[in-house]
Parts: sequence; C-alpha cells; structure tokens
Amino acid sequence: MRHNRRAIALLAAFASLLACSPSDAPAAAAHRPGAAGIGDTDFPHDGNGGYDVSHYDLAVDYTPATRRLDGVATIKAGATQGLSSFNLDLVGLHVRQVSVNGSPATFTHQGGELTVRPAEPIDERAAFTVRVHYSGRPQPATSTTNLGTFGFIPTADGAFVASEPNGSKTWFPSNDHPSDKATFAFTITVPAGVTALANGELTGEPTTSDGRTTYRWSERHPMATYLATATMGKFELRKGSTAGGVPNLAAADPRFASSLDKLYRTSGKITDYWATVFGPYPFGSTGGVVDDYAAGYALENQTKPLYGGFEPDEGIIAHELAHQWFGNSLTIRRWKDLWLNEGFATYAEWLWSEHKGAKTADAIFKGHHSRPADDPMWTYPPGRAKPDDLFNQSVYTRGGMTLHALRRAVGDDTFFKLLKSWAADNRYGHVTTEQFIELAERMSGKDLKPLFAAWLYQPRRPA
Ligand code: TRP
Ligand code: ZN
Repeated sequence: MRHNRRAIALLAAFASLLACSPSDAPAAAAHRPGAAGIGDTDFPHDGNGGYDVSHYDLAVDYTPATRRLDGVATIKAGATQGLSSFNLDLVGLHVRQVSVNGSPATFTHQGGELTVRPAEPIDERAAFTVRVHYSGRPQPATSTTNLGTFGFIPTADGAFVASEPNGSKTWFPSNDHPSDKATFAFTITVPAGVTALANGELTGEPTTSDGRTTYRWSERHPMATYLATATMGKFELRKGSTAGGVPNLAAADPRFASSLDKLYRTSGKITDYWATVFGPYPFGSTGGVVDDYAAGYALENQTKPLYGGFEPDEGIIAHELAHQWFGNSLTIRRWKDLWLNEGFATYAEWLWSEHKGAKTADAIFKGHHSRPADDPMWTYPPGRAKPDDLFNQSVYTRGGMTLHALRRAVGDDTFFKLLKSWAADNRYGHVTTEQFIELAERMSGKDLKPLFAAWLYQPRRPA
C-alpha cells in the first residue's frame, strides 16, 4: 500500500518533468546580470555582485611627464551566479578592449561602472578570465567627507597611490570592495631612473630596455583592493631583513633620505615586536615608503605602508604595521566595522608606548576618558562607522578605548590570548564586530554585551 502510493507519486513527478519541453525551461533566466554593487548598504555602488575575484594581474605603463597610464588588467574570477553580464569598477579612464575567456566582449562604461557582456554567458560556479585594455590620465578620487584626495595621485616624479576606501577604481578595473580579496601580480613599466613600488615582493631584478624599466612585484596573500599600490618616483632604498627574519624594504623620496635608515630600523623592530604580541607576521615582507607628496596621512598598503610627506615617528609606524594583522590579514566585510581596523591600530600605538616604557595604555586611556562630556567622541559611538565620515576620531580613539575597557574587564592574560586567537583564527579572512564579541565572550566566559554596547554603540561617555 505505502509502496504503491510512492510509486504513483514518483510516476506523476516523472510525467510532469516530461511534459515540460525544453523550450518551456527557463534556461535564459539561469544567466542574469550581476549586481552593480556588492551589497554594502553604506556604499551601494561599491564592488559588484555575481562573481568573486581570485587574482589580478596588472600590467601598467606610466610616464610621469605626461601622466599617461596604459594598462592591461587580467582578472581571474569565479561566478557566484549564472552571468549574462557583470560589472567592474573603473572611473575616468578609457577602455579600449575587453575580452572574456579570450573572446572579445561588448561593454559600456559610465558612472564608474564598466559593464561587460561576454559573448557566451558564464555558468554559475564557472571560473573565467576577463582582460581589460585601458588607458588615459588617472585622476585621484576626491571626497569632502573622507580624507580629501586618494587613489592614484600623480606627483612631480611619479605617483602616490593610496586608495582607501574605494580609490582603486581610479587606476585599475576591479571589484572595489574589501569583501572580495584576491592575490595580485604587478608589471610596472616606467622611465629608467624611476622606481616602482608595489605590494609583496619583487619576482626578479628590474629589466631596462629602450630607456624604460619594468618592475615585477607579486603579492601572493589575499589583499583588499584598497591596499594595492603602485607608488612611483625617485626613491632611495634600503633592503635587508628584520632580526626575526622577515624581508624588509624601506624606500624614501630623496627629500626624505635622512629618514630612510630610521624607517628601515623602526619598521623591522616593530614588525618583530608585533609578531610576539599578535602572532606570526602574515605576509612575505615588511617595510615602508616615504614619499614627498604632502598627504599628511599614512596608509597601511599591504607589506608597504605609505607615509605622505612627513618623517614617520614610531607611533604611526606602530599603527600602520599593526594594520598588517588588523585590516590587511583580517579584513572587514563592510565599512561600518572600520573600528576593527582603526581601533586596533590605535590601541597598538598605546601598546607600543607601554612597551617602550613611555605612557602606559592605561594612562593614555584615562587621559582620553577625562575629555569633557561634550567632546564629539562621546556622542559619536564608533561601532558603526558612518559612510560620510568613515575616519572619524571616535572610530580611532574610542575604538582603541573599547579594547582597553575589554582588557580591564577580562584581564591581561585573556586579553592577549584573545588578540592572538583573533588574528590566528581569521588569518587572511574576513571579520565582523559580532564575531569579535563572540570570541571575546567565549574566551573570557563573561557576558560582554553590556561592555560592547556601552563602548561601541551608545552616544554617551561610558562610565
Ligand atoms: N587607514 C589610514 C590610517 O589610519 C587612514 C586613511 C584612510 C587613508 N583613508 C585613506 C590614508 C586614504 C590614505 C588614503 O592609517
Ligand atoms: Zn589606521
């Protein structure tokens, strides 16, 4: 009896399958356009949907005198849905030609979105390669609310390239959002005498022919697009390795030549120290670059923090190198969690001060805590960075204070184990604030929700 009913049900299902002729099947619907944004509600146009990049191979030819860039970007990706078309982010440059899997593709380019329609649709889960030939004069991105000028910034002798939060699209086509990390290879050709500094390590000696030099760099660990750099210009270099054995490369514009040795030594010393506090250094090399472009800020470009127009002191070097763990190896999935980068890097400055025997983190914390009750930091909680003011001081300072409040609540032993586990468990991955709170509660055995609520989310000074 039961058997029979099942057999009948199966037969009925089979019959209805047969009744559905191939022309009724929604084959076309299996391939649809990828979304023009990756789904960060604060930055709806950043990144793109429908695919995940695994590797960028960027060949860039740049001439400082004319400011002209010629690029060929070869991007390997995997489709996360069936794709009839998909977008890349690229602003202001002229796209000459696009191919997908070696076949010419049609495309449109407007409003920072390059929409590519491959000759053959791409199946869900298929790997594909898109190649974009482009050229023009890159223009940096400007924002009245987020640190002024960023992206590819032409300078007198080259370019200063610092792209946080979404300036990669000023110099290469990309899925320009930190939730899609990839490995990178760079082939950068510049007039002889100009040095090109990209992320990772040189894969061979630079080669020169016809008065142009080609540098090949490779970053073999996953990297967010905003950390990619191709900083170019006249540079003095110092190469070697840290006492702990991490290859170390420092570079300084001739105007900052007197800073080179200190940059090299301090970067090496701090890289090794952070490895004892946060766990093994995550990348293949460390170092830093001081350029003469007067940005007045620094960016934690992966393996090569970039300092704009000033001699960096130990505090800022400690900050940018701490980002190699917090921000670069562990990367935020959405911008509102930015305190996981900046609060940690700021707290690292305080830890460095404590380590040096200068002010303790506790003394620095107390100094900030005694700021007047109407300080904007108290009314602006750091837990949800605002898209029109991402790099607010609260995200940095009150973010750092959050970690100190946590340290006081769980004790030094648990706190420092937590920092190491956080870095180890999420190495090369993506993180959210919820995950950090969860790990802190698990490792301490304490209910920490009230502490994080007060420090990260409430618009008043925590007690
Ligand atoms: N993340 C940088 C820091 O704290 C600051 C920063 C934000 C930045 N956006 C930038 C630097 C753009 C250069 C360009 O060190
Ligand atoms: Zn920072």
